[in-house]
Amino acid sequence: MTSATLRRPHGVTTRGTTGINRLRRSDRWLVHDPLVRRALNDSADPVVVDLGYGARPHTTFELADRLTAVRRDRRVVGLEIDPERVVESRLGVSFARGGFELSGLRPVLVRAFNVLRQYPEEAVGPAWARMQAGLAPGGLIVDGTCDELGRRCAWVLLDTQGPLSLTLAWDPFDVERPSDIAARLPKALIHRNVPGEPVHALLATADLAWATAAPHGSFGPRVRWRTALELLRAQGIPVQHQRHRRRDNILTVPWSLVAPRATN
Ligand SMILES: C[S@@+](CC[C@H](N)C(=O)[O-])C[C@H]1O[C@@H](n2cnc3c(N)ncnc32)[C@H](O)[C@@H]1O
Repeated sequence: MTSATLRRPHGVTTRGTTGINRLRRSDRWLVHDPLVRRALNDSADPVVVDLGYGARPHTTFELADRLTAVRRDRRVVGLEIDPERVVESRLGVSFARGGFELSGLRPVLVRAFNVLRQYPEEAVGPAWARMQAGLAPGGLIVDGTCDELGRRCAWVLLDTQGPLSLTLAWDPFDVERPSDIAARLPKALIHRNVPGEPVHALLATADLAWATAAPHGSFGPRVRWRTALELLRAQGIPVQHQRHRRRDNILTVPWSLVAPRATN
């Protein structure tokens, strides 16, 4: 391997689509998630990387702002593989060129949203491995996808060993049923929403719970979703408990429940 190959950021340039406040649901979840909070709070040097922030760095500033609720001294770095998109550092946030190798940083948290979506499914494993290798001890990765306005989102949380959980999050007033999020599943799962795959079964079960909870709809879609979550728990689905009342409707399950079936 030549030194030029070693220096080249790992990955490919993709479309830079982004938008103001597009990643708010994931940001809100991050500041409340116990694993993310612990990783940030336990870190001696809480570096956070926003990988692939796109044509404008709005979401990086928003992430930096929201994470102050957990660690005021967090250091946020936006990395972009496209050198044309690297902007001047400002408002306490730095920007640099970098890819899945994380540009030599040792972050405690990496957020890569709408990045892997434009890669082939086979690229996910190597990209995850590359980012995992760059994490600080106890570090976490959020690999997610959402629609243009951030109303329908899904993300995988990973640590250095592997994926931990899948979260679906949506605008309670914009989604008819949980399976509407299927089109926004992260790359690792989007091709697996077919009969026989665990994620397909989860979405069907969530839809049924949502339909069963319909009588609670008169109290609003958030109350209806809380009832649906209770129904899922009653069926033995290990849905993560939410300590806080949420603006968003959220479903978080262990990765083991949705991990794709091995293909030969
Ligand atoms: C669709 S934009 C996403 C912007 C923002 N994260 C969002 O969700 O609104 C994807 C960006 O990821 C960048 N990108 C793709 N692969 C990358 C990689 N391996 N490392 C860093 N940036 C990458 C692309 O250049 C593009 O600007």
